Formats: sequence, C-alpha cells, structure tokens
Amino acid sequence: MRIGVLTGGGDCPGLNAVIRAVVRKGVEVYGHDFVGFRDGWRGPIEGDTMTLDVHAVRGILPRGGTILGTSRTNPYKTEDGEGKVLATLERLDIDALVAVGGEDTLGVATKLAASGVHVVGVPKTIDNDLGATDYTFGFDTAVGVAMEAIDRLHTTGDSHHRALVVEVMGRHAGWIALHAGLAGGANVILIPENPFDIEAVVAYVEHRFASGYSPVLVVSEGALPKDGGLVLGSGVVDDFGHVRLGGVGAALADVIEQRTGKESRAVVLGHVQRGGTPTAFDRVLATRFGLSAIDAVHSQDWGAMVALRGTEIVRVPLAEATAELKTVPAERYAEAEVFFG
Ligand code: F6P
Repeated sequence: MRIGVLTGGGDCPGLNAVIRAVVRKGVEVYGHDFVGFRDGWRGPIEGDTMTLDVHAVRGILPRGGTILGTSRTNPYKTEDGEGKVLATLERLDIDALVAVGGEDTLGVATKLAASGVHVVGVPKTIDNDLGATDYTFGFDTAVGVAMEAIDRLHTTGDSHHRALVVEVMGRHAGWIALHAGLAGGANVILIPENPFDIEAVVAYVEHRFASGYSPVLVVSEGALPKDGGLVLGSGVVDDFGHVRLGGVGAALADVIEQRTGKESRAVVLGHVQRGGTPTAFDRVLATRFGLSAIDAVHSQDWGAMVALRGTEIVRVPLAEATAELKTVPAERYAEAEVFFG
C-alpha cells in the first residue's frame, strides 16, 4: 500500500515518535510505502508532500515538534477543500491516510472517512481532553514542564513575599492545571470546568500569606470567573472557530494585588509546554499508538482510531474521538481543593 501521513492542529511532544513507529513498522514489517503531507490538511489540499522513508525518520524519536509540520487548516473552510483532498489522494495513488491530531483534525478525518477515504486516526493533544482515550501523548511532557515551573516559582515567590499566578494551557479542560498543580503543590488551581469565585481566591491567597508562605496559583487559560468580571482573549479566531486565549493569569494577578495589597505577578507558560523533547511516558505511548495505527491500516480497519484504555492500546471508531470532550470531573477537582489556601 501507499500510505499518506499528516499531523494537524497544535504540535505536541511525541508526534515524531508516532511518525517513526508508523513508518518503521510499515516499511520493515509490512513492506508499505509512505508519503508525508506537510502542515496538516494543507498538505493534501495543496498536494504539498515530502519523502517519508526509514531514512527520513532516523533520529527523530526524542525530537519535539513534527518533521511533517502542522497547521490548523480546515478543508471544510477551504473552497472545495474535500474535492482537492480527494483529487490529491487519487493523483498520488494514495491507498490510505494516517491522520494524527486532536478533535479538529480527527473531525475532518471522520468526515473524509464518511466520504470513502481510507483513514486511520491517532489522537493527539497536550490538553488530554479527548473522550475516547485515557491519555494522549504530550500531556505528560506538558505537565512536567508546568510542574517544574511551579517548583521554581515557590522559591522565588517566598523570597519576595509575592503571589505568583501561573497560566497554563487548557482551552476547555483543566487537566494540565490539575495535574501540574497537584504535583507542584499549588495553593489554588482554577480550571475551565469550574468558574471561579474571586472572593474565594482572595481568601485562599490571604490564608497562605497568613501562614507565612507565598501563594502559587495555577490557572488554565480557559478558566473564567463566575461573575464574568475579567476581560480576556485576543478575539483572534482560527479556522475551526477557536478564539486565541490568554490573559486570565495577568488579570487575576491584578485583582489579587488590588484586593490583598500584596505584590502579585503572572507567568504565562504558553508554548514552552508544547515544545521540546517528550518524556519517556509520552515516547512510549506515542510509539505504541504508531505501531497500532499501522496495524489498523494493514488490516484495512478504515475509520478506526487508536486509543489507550488502561494499559492496552485498542481501536475505537474515529467518530468517538470527537463525540465527547473529556473534562475534569468534580470529584477529581475536589481532591485538589483539599490543598488550597
Ligand atoms: O489544543 C492544544 C492547545 O495547546 C490548547 O491548549 C491551546 O489553547 C492551543 O492549543 C493554542 O494553540 P495555538 O498555538 O495555535 O495558539
């Protein structure tokens, strides 16, 4: 078979490990050929390809980002996007596609599968918010980066008697904030699932100062106050309708400083969480996803997505990946609340 591979959406540590596993097993075990599509769905729309053979994937296991490039291009927001994708696949004699991405990329893959494209999906997002899989690769790396930042902020915050607010990624789901905050001993964790009460946040901050320590607060970029009193977001919207987030950390630090009289600063971790080398956990998960994805292609299980259930890699229908967002359940947030203040 001749198989196209693409990576779409925000990049994520472990993407290269997936590509490597797909190609290595695909060539060495099954004898397939590969074509790399550049920059997500832009590649098949414009017919922009690169060589993807065993030589091309040598040495990429520990490398962050994606050798294929990525974008948030949506074929269904491009004039005759689907037609262009189908025409490219036909012109290049592509028998099957492996699409690695989050809800948007896999949403496109689901529609293409319904139009008869032979596609297999691999779930990816540092946010860990895809319902069909227990974990996505990249999440563990992002949590590790955020945890290290929190550890460092505790010592500088205590030295200066300042409140420090760390803004982490997480558009709809607060998994990064929850896990990094728990691992780093944050004094407050604010997530999109639970609109926060400014009065309660101020009370936690004051309690922490009163105990002789300086508070570190972790806030997901998508978290919002109950009363809607903070002005956030740039207003920039991508091809899939997502507003570019950012700003809740700074807004919160301002309110804390005004209300408590204590100096407060915000740190935005942003893309630092997404870049760089994946952890061992993410390399292994991404490698296992890649191996399982090429098995699914080889057995012509079209419309399947690989997923982690417990410790097993299983196949689920692609449509399941995008059916439901996996948000933080109330009881998981309650575990963290024990340590607030
Ligand atoms: O979807 C993953 C993610 O990292 C979100 O947490 C974040 O809101 C978004 O991507 C940022 O994407 P971009 O780099 O395109 O602004």
